[in-house]
Amino acid sequence: MSELQVFRAPKIEAEIRVPGDKSMSHRAVLLAAMSNGTCVVRGFLPSQDCLCTVRAMQELGVPIEQAEETTLIVQGQRGNFTAPSKSIDCGNSGTLMRLLCGILAAQPFEATLIGDASLSSRPMRRVIEPLTQMGCTIKATGPGETAPLTIRGGALTPIRYELPIASAQVKSAILFAALRTAGKTSLVEPIATRDHTERMLSYFLVRSQREKLGNGYLISMYGDQVPESRDFTVPGDISSAAFWLVAAAAQEDSNLLVRDVGLNGTRTGILSVLLRMGASVREVVEDYDQVEPRGEIRIQGGRLRGTVIEGGEIANVVDEIPALAVAGALAQGKTVIRDAKELRLKETDRLAAIATNLTAMGVEVVEREDGLDIYGGSPLMGARLKSYGDHRIAMAFAVAGFFADRETIIEDADCIATSYPGFDNQLESFLSPEESSPTPVINPAEILERN
Ligand code: S3P
Repeated sequence: MSELQVFRAPKIEAEIRVPGDKSMSHRAVLLAAMSNGTCVVRGFLPSQDCLCTVRAMQELGVPIEQAEETTLIVQGQRGNFTAPSKSIDCGNSGTLMRLLCGILAAQPFEATLIGDASLSSRPMRRVIEPLTQMGCTIKATGPGETAPLTIRGGALTPIRYELPIASAQVKSAILFAALRTAGKTSLVEPIATRDHTERMLSYFLVRSQREKLGNGYLISMYGDQVPESRDFTVPGDISSAAFWLVAAAAQEDSNLLVRDVGLNGTRTGILSVLLRMGASVREVVEDYDQVEPRGEIRIQGGRLRGTVIEGGEIANVVDEIPALAVAGALAQGKTVIRDAKELRLKETDRLAAIATNLTAMGVEVVEREDGLDIYGGSPLMGARLKSYGDHRIAMAFAVAGFFADRETIIEDADCIATSYPGFDNQLESFLSPEESSPTPVINPAEILERN
């Protein structure tokens, strides 16, 4: 699948599932590895990013068996790992590299973390700063404090730290280090970010406290704790569902049901945005058992209107901006995205990539330092587009191709495997539904009956 070929899609009427949540899959493996026994992780996302996490922990002496494609059996090591025999390859995954820094900060050995070209250009100062304050040494040997990172861990002291940026990865790195630090570590996050680490710590019986503070939270945790081993089932990834949600939202009279998807409120901002833009969106939480709400989303499309996405909402849709920008191009009027400077520091500069690709499809876009102005509503033209090696750019523009007059080609689409194995098959089933196995649409009344 080095290139994806997309053309105008017929009306979407389908019921789908998406692969496991990427953020939760990383965290489930890491926390299981730190726990005091055997944990079975089901619904694991077997994507390149998350498989890097499995290999990294195996390299640190954690026995992990992949019993099925999406089932892992992890033997927790009570947080005591062994020195790796070679550099740990984090591939394309910023989440893995930053969270692993938090874990290695408290280990009494040296380890080196490397990544691919994209990861090696991403900023690491954000984790180096707080973890160094806690007492470990991290040497970033790439230009401008980038990877390779060599970490020498050891006994840590607790800190009180105010995050200078809204980042769940930085927050999680500090919480993982705090887990092995005697005393109380406190963090202030200025804007709420995804809270999977806090929730999963609590599920593994490590208490942290989260109190509202301004627009964000004060999070405190007493460390020197070993998580209790637990089995965990990962729900589907709403960030992967996002592409199909946008496709359905922008098609009049479409009807899409996404089953078994994570509905954590720090991740469902896309539903509010699509609702505001004019789609009919309904979510039904069916299960809270494992502290992460999960359930289903039904979406029916309509004539979309432009909207404004800015401020505190950005952290909640940080990975959905490429898909939402495509929704903006398909909506009548102007869509404004602001306060999204962080998007320039993702797998590629996503603001620049979105602006270039939308322009190539005939959309009027103004690129701002921290966002985009998208003038939507004109017909999209099919085009040959670059993915910039970024999975979410590739997938968002594949969906844009559903609405374009001629064929759209996405070059270098292999990067999709970092987060969404099987994306090409799902795409194909929307493009040629009659050739795919039938996906009956469930009546909304039925959902109500079941609840
Ligand atoms: C993630 C946090 C976000 C997100 C990334 C996954 C996580 O990054 O963009 O895809 O799992 O913690 P930041 O925390 O840097 O915003």
